[in-house]
Amino acid sequence: MVTDMEKHGFIKIAPSILAGDFGHLAQEAKRAEDAGADSLHLDVMDGHFVPNLTIGPQIVAAINRATDLFLDVHLMIYRPFDYIERFVEAGADNITFHLEATEDVEETLSYIRKCNIRAGLAFNPKTSLSMIPRYLNKCDVILLMTVDPGFGGQSLIKSVLDKVKFVRDVCDQLNIRAGGITMKSNPSLHSALPPIEPFDIQVDGGINQKNVRFCVEAGANIIVAGTSLYRAPDMRIAIQELREAAEKSHDN
Ligand code: DX5
Ligand code: ZN
Repeated sequence: MVTDMEKHGFIKIAPSILAGDFGHLAQEAKRAEDAGADSLHLDVMDGHFVPNLTIGPQIVAAINRATDLFLDVHLMIYRPFDYIERFVEAGADNITFHLEATEDVEETLSYIRKCNIRAGLAFNPKTSLSMIPRYLNKCDVILLMTVDPGFGGQSLIKSVLDKVKFVRDVCDQLNIRAGGITMKSNPSLHSALPPIEPFDIQVDGGINQKNVRFCVEAGANIIVAGTSLYRAPDMRIAIQELREAAEKSHDN
């Protein structure tokens, strides 16, 4: 279970710039920063793994020059391993790739971490989570897609919330904390250490101020939102409302 101390700063809001104005990406990045975002989510699509094309490392580098926000790069591309270095050089602070996109899951996670940034593993809504226990201690975040990846503006697939709960339960059972670190069951062994935060579970797709509570109740703590933040009349208010709805449900 998550304690009161651990709740502080637990929910993170990550606007997805995919819903922003691609004619003014630098300003759109700054807009998220000024509106109080915790990180900026960048969707990279290759037209093969998903039927859409978006941005590459050059654009990520340009966005990096425009903002101090933590850059969360979500690769929806085949052969993610081959592109890690270029996205790291571009300023990625986290790289998440899809389990479905490569045979080299462990090598890719480990290489991302070797580059001194955070590593994430993403699952499509229909993908089995049976391999989850094998990867939890090798990554920093699990991303559960709440839509079929490829496009913004879709509706959240509610059945994924059971999967979120499943991952949170596995983390609790195995005592897996932030960064995939396992806490030993004997508290005296780590009583002198600072508390380690819970493992990060991210959700992405179709999330808004009305349904975010279901995601958080299921156990997610990093909330990606494109349309509901970038297309809102005032992004600061939209982030505030999303955060309040998320944190409120967490208290219940
Ligand atoms: C979908 C992307 C999402 C998308 C979310 O493939 O991974 O990040 O931008 O956008 P909304 O919140 O509009 O569903
Ligand atoms: Zn995404």
